[in-house]
Amino acid sequence: MERVPEPFRYLKGELHCENVRLSALAEKYGTPLYVYSASEIADRVRLFAAAFENLRHTIGYSVKANSNLAIMRMLSRAGCGFDVVSGGELERVRIAAPRRVRETVFSGVGKQEWEIDLGLKSGILIFNIESAAELEMIAARAKKLRKKARVGFRVNPDVNAETHPYISTGLREHKFGVGIGEAQELYARAAQSKWLEVAGVSCHIGSQITSAGPFGEALKKVADLVRGLRRDGHSIRYVDAGGGLGISYSGGDDFGSRVTQYAEVVKSALHGLDVHLLLEPGRSIIAHAGALLTRVVLHKENGAKRFVVVDAAMNDLIRPSLYQAHHEIVPVKQPRAEFERVDVVGPVCETGDFFARDREMPEVEAGELVAVLDAGAYGMSLASNYNTRARAAEVIVEGKKGRLIRRRETMRDMLATEIRR
Ligand code: LLP
Repeated sequence: MERVPEPFRYLKGELHCENVRLSALAEKYGTPLYVYSASEIADRVRLFAAAFENLRHTIGYSVKANSNLAIMRMLSRAGCGFDVVSGGELERVRIAAPRRVRETVFSGVGKQEWEIDLGLKSGILIFNIESAAELEMIAARAKKLRKKARVGFRVNPDVNAETHPYISTGLREHKFGVGIGEAQELYARAAQSKWLEVAGVSCHIGSQITSAGPFGEALKKVADLVRGLRRDGHSIRYVDAGGGLGISYSGGDDFGSRVTQYAEVVKSALHGLDVHLLLEPGRSIIAHAGALLTRVVLHKENGAKRFVVVDAAMNDLIRPSLYQAHHEIVPVKQPRAEFERVDVVGPVCETGDFFARDREMPEVEAGELVAVLDAGAYGMSLASNYNTRARAAEVIVEGKKGRLIRRRETMRDMLATEIRR
């Protein structure tokens, strides 16, 4: 039998999310459909909070991973603040969780004036500045609006995160942050503006990092910097450790012990500093809670190759195409014994439109449903209308109930902003 991790499991021969049959959701809402488990999301937040319980901290859920308003609201209720990288994401926090705006950190290499202004006016916790030019911009906007900006620099600790090159961010050659060696000079510059309150240091070295080592290495460098800055007279109260904690995409993950190990490394690097820790997890909170439900359209063979064509495509979930990411794919009807070697592909006109290549998986017939697992993070949030395909609907499952949290896009929605003449 397929190994299917909780919260997705076979009950009476059918895949369920918590206690809801996925086939019932597909019937009601159509496919492709994103399905999320509310209890899994809440569990992840609890495990995070427990791992850091003896340290003052804020879990700033990274909105980019999945920015659905209902999910953000749930996370806010579970005690999370937020990490945003655009004015749009900040607007989402203002709508979904207005009380958490003051627990929101704003990162990003290219913040524009209107975005800085929005951060200042709405009273976010802190700006993570990523360049000398941005320092000047924020100081100027703060002066103009007569609102003091709390700031820290995102430093680039020059460590190798050992992840996919597209999602590694902590090396000197990457566009992110300021070189850790230049930081002290920049802090001195920031301290000269009466419109800036220097309060933190942040770093984020990449995403889907599966060993704790690189986090420890980076944060030790950050801790040294904090000590140096304090010696220079800066009052550094926040250390932002970024996000990046990876998950297992092939099942068999013990997230509890993974996050505990991560917390040990973080705590040991920051030992004795007496800071408020900010965390920016995205994937580790939401990836495992979500699956992309899709229906098999047909089978085809080209020479020796067998293809299973499904109704979801790279516009719904781009991770396999973009990062060669592995996602488990399981039939909704509990599989019988026969396996076959297939490519699971979507209908989009690109060779790169695939979910799995040469994958040994249970036979599925046309019309059957399959679930692409661990799709809760960077799935819907990276979806597009490529090939004029409407974006999927999203459902959240709470125990025995499924609730629509985003309706399927219509043709009218897709054309709404275009001018015909
Ligand atoms: N903080 C900052 C400043 C970030 O840039 C990111 C992710 C996070 C936090 C959250 O990282 P997480 O905990 O989710 O690893 N689309 C890619 C991942 C891109 C990550 C971008 N930055 C993927 O699907 O693997």
